[in-house]
Amino acid sequence: MNISDTLFIKALNKEVLATPPIWYMRQAGRYMPEYREIRKKFKNFLDMCKEPDVCCEIALQPINAFQLDASILFSDILTIPDAFGLGVKFLENEGPVFTKPINSPVDINNLGHFDPSNLDYVYKAVTNIKNSLPEDIPLIGFSGSPWTLAAYSIEGRSSKSFDKTLNFIKANEAETHELLSKYTDACFLYLRKQVQSGADVVQIFDSWANLLKKDDLNTFSFDYITSLISALKIDPVTKNVPIILFARDPSCNSEDLINTNADCISLYSTMNNFDTHLSKNKVALQGNLNPKVLLEDREIIKKEAYQILSKYKNYPGYIFNLGHGITPDINPDKVKYLTDIVREF
Ligand code: CP3
Repeated sequence: MNISDTLFIKALNKEVLATPPIWYMRQAGRYMPEYREIRKKFKNFLDMCKEPDVCCEIALQPINAFQLDASILFSDILTIPDAFGLGVKFLENEGPVFTKPINSPVDINNLGHFDPSNLDYVYKAVTNIKNSLPEDIPLIGFSGSPWTLAAYSIEGRSSKSFDKTLNFIKANEAETHELLSKYTDACFLYLRKQVQSGADVVQIFDSWANLLKKDDLNTFSFDYITSLISALKIDPVTKNVPIILFARDPSCNSEDLINTNADCISLYSTMNNFDTHLSKNKVALQGNLNPKVLLEDREIIKKEAYQILSKYKNYPGYIFNLGHGITPDINPDKVKYLTDIVREF
């Protein structure tokens, strides 16, 4: 089977389909007992990401359990700051912690050059996953957005409000733009290598888009995402690879997202007013079921899923997904149930 004949690629090419392709953000992870079994063997999560065979085994777990229509590379977005030497560690119950975060403009000036070969372990994982998948399952590669990577790098850890970051970017605007440019170039080289290694589609995660108000969101985030997408669209290796953009609860118009030139917009759970008249035949859509619905009982899951499916039934290019990632408190049986009823709709 040609990969372009798969449901997922057809939807990304904006075809109306009787049944949407289905995949889930964070489809491999702590909610699965088989994942937890492997995870136990590693103290630091990033050490596990550095083992291509382990990443391959984990990426295939949800494909085998739920027969999804797309697979996603198992890795993390913080591999790029780690490769820049910022020392990323995942501590239990704390999430990511940087041993050398960006504390001053000097730290940005001193940032080294990004060598994409420092992330060979990721490209090896991509190749292993691609070779292990059934040939009719496309593989998604990914990177964080330049803004989201910069926010973690400045904050040095996960945080609710990212106060250090928001103060830093106002006090050091020029250097922040330098950092964002460096990260944009790195994301391009990184995604290009993933495509050369077997990724059929790429997704950009702007998980901290919600920290910025509309104007700042365009200046510090979407302008860089637009440059990244345009670099991918002109490179011979990546020019035909569909690009999905996920932005978490962004304070922007539908137009701002469409103008990034992504092929598909991943709708966050709260994005119910996305302008489908404006986006129709320009971009495919993905999402936007609230992951919390999976904590409810079956009738509610069905009602909420069917509401979304009814809404996007005739939309040219709709991919069923959640508005954000599956959380560790979700029962895998509910994921199986949801997947089955979407196919019966
Ligand atoms: O979708 C998939 O199945 C692919 C796997 C994937 C992971 N991280 C695995 C992971 C993807 C696409 C990511 C990207 C990622 N990493 C994002 C963007 C996606 C999003 O949710 O917005 C972000 C923000 C990160 C940074 C990150 N990595 C955080 C904040 C955490 C959680 C830390 C914690 O302890 O709560 C991680 C860790 C992480 N990444 C886990 C997984 C399965 C859990 C790690 C574990 O097992 O301890």
